[in-house]
Amino acid sequence: IELQLNKPGPKIQPTMWGIFFEDINFAADGGLYAELVKNRSFAFDDPLMGWKSYRKDSLRIINETGASTASRFVRLLPLKSSQKNFLQNEGFRGMGFSEGEEYRLTVNARVPEGNEQELKVELLGDDKKPVAESVVTIDSNDWGKKELILKAQATAAKGSLKISVVENGSVDFKFISLFPVKTFKNRPNGMRLDLAEKLAALKPGFVRFPGGCIVEGHHLDLRYQWKKTVGNTEDRETLINRWNTEFRHRFTPDYYQSFGLGFYEYFQLAEDLGAEALPILNCGMACQYNTGELAPLNEMEPYISDALDLIEFANGDATSTWGKLRAEMGHPEPFNLKYLGIGNEQWGEQYLERYDIIAEKVHEKYPEIELVSGSGPSSDGDQFEYLWKELKSRTANLVDEHYYKDPNWFFNNAKRYDNYERGGLKVFAGEYASHTRVENQDPSSNNNWLAALSEAAFMTGLERNADVVQMASYAPLLAHVDAWQWRPDLIWFDNLKSVKTPNYYVQQMYSTHRGDYVVPVVSGGDVLAGQDSLYASASADQAAKKVYLKLVNSSAQSRAVSIALKGAKTASKEVTVTTLYQPDLMAYNSLPKPDVVVPQKSTASIKGSSLNLELKAQSFVLVELTTK
Ligand code: AHR
Repeated sequence: IELQLNKPGPKIQPTMWGIFFEDINFAADGGLYAELVKNRSFAFDDPLMGWKSYRKDSLRIINETGASTASRFVRLLPLKSSQKNFLQNEGFRGMGFSEGEEYRLTVNARVPEGNEQELKVELLGDDKKPVAESVVTIDSNDWGKKELILKAQATAAKGSLKISVVENGSVDFKFISLFPVKTFKNRPNGMRLDLAEKLAALKPGFVRFPGGCIVEGHHLDLRYQWKKTVGNTEDRETLINRWNTEFRHRFTPDYYQSFGLGFYEYFQLAEDLGAEALPILNCGMACQYNTGELAPLNEMEPYISDALDLIEFANGDATSTWGKLRAEMGHPEPFNLKYLGIGNEQWGEQYLERYDIIAEKVHEKYPEIELVSGSGPSSDGDQFEYLWKELKSRTANLVDEHYYKDPNWFFNNAKRYDNYERGGLKVFAGEYASHTRVENQDPSSNNNWLAALSEAAFMTGLERNADVVQMASYAPLLAHVDAWQWRPDLIWFDNLKSVKTPNYYVQQMYSTHRGDYVVPVVSGGDVLAGQDSLYASASADQAAKKVYLKLVNSSAQSRAVSIALKGAKTASKEVTVTTLYQPDLMAYNSLPKPDVVVPQKSTASIKGSSLNLELKAQSFVLVELTTK
């Protein structure tokens, strides 16, 4: 093998390796968004979903006249007995409390008659006994907001929150929220720390949000509308989640979107992660796998203004309508949005007609914004060809390709982009994952080593073709072990812990060793892309004086490789070798056993101008060289 350091290849964009976020598998509510209370404003279709009280008839649901669900409240009624009425929330498949950690309760409540009412607040553990308890006093103020900090004295994975009246009497509740005090970057009521830290450790170049099919909705009125997700958190209207449906024999009827993680928070998260924001907007089409409802072409105005106003929200100054809102929400500086996706997995002429209408207006007003268009469903080759052909004559900058395929497809497609046309449209590999469909009940078992190895092989082709592929993201990102709809996923979690899959480590080995240009790797004069079960790509980071060589041996035999370092001026003869390997291709990481497939570090030495390595059977190896 030759590592041709004397023949620098194409530039690698800082956006090359990113993350795809969709509120699927309880990724937002019940996941990254650290809120512990489900249905915190009683706005689900069943206002009491997630809640219970002393008895069903010991409370009343009151909808303020003519108002939306956002103005619904619950009245706890006085009991005839000496028992104390209460409200108890079950959380998202329970609530996780960690011993010694603090939790912030926020309530918007009032006493309808009389002056004050004391409420006993308890965090209940797995055995239903309190792990924390305190008292808050509510007065007759109109929805005065009260906050309370509770410290857990024990750990619970399936805890709950209970609020009881101290004296018999009525109390109205509009909003009840509970967050861990410690969140990512210490943002109050922000992102769950362990999950956000795992995202940060990927050093993503971009964050795509809010999905996925969730952008589209089954019907247009159920589509994701970013304007409803900004402003005061308590006033954001809840919406049924697009994944609250029977899907692959699974059903999660309690899946809604509170939009506490809304577009402001997504931009903030991208900024906190040092990544570019890549929002995807609805293009006037509901999910074509479902109703495929279309906005008439002469009624595209809401979709156009969603795009234009979003750019203003992200980049406009505080004198603009939407820029002002962003500033009021706490971010006077612009978010510097550069990319915008129009439509998710849409296809056909109907997509192009709608894409054109929105794209024209965006380009007219904001020519600097790079537009991302869809390329249809991954399984439909004809649509894919058709859209690519059509999009070439249009104003898109990047085309979003999706592929959920089996491991063989990934091994066989490492050369996919070698012959893509240069100099034109760029590729955003916006959703991909190797699917092995193992019928194993263990949720994270589909994230097995075979799937991850095949992705590592495929990604050599993405990296080698960095002049065409400028963004790539594994999908989906997050999944709750007790509430998922789709697998495999990059990170699995329960209410307390999370686990990095082998696929996560593959992503991380690429994204944290990105480099800024490609270094060719050849064997017998040809690019190395699967010959003799060997795959390779390399990149160099000029400023850090590093070269990162990625090698995949997909064969069942270990093999010796000799790497000739052409034109190398190495600063050290010693190189770092990171190996991801497991003899069992079906091995996977799980919450109880998180370290089955993890990277191992070692060193090797350059002899003369060659590096000799022994690659284990079915392994992924990253070699890090330091140059002068
Ligand atoms: O990632 C899960 C789903 O797969 C996405 O919502 C959709 O875009 C794709 O079909």
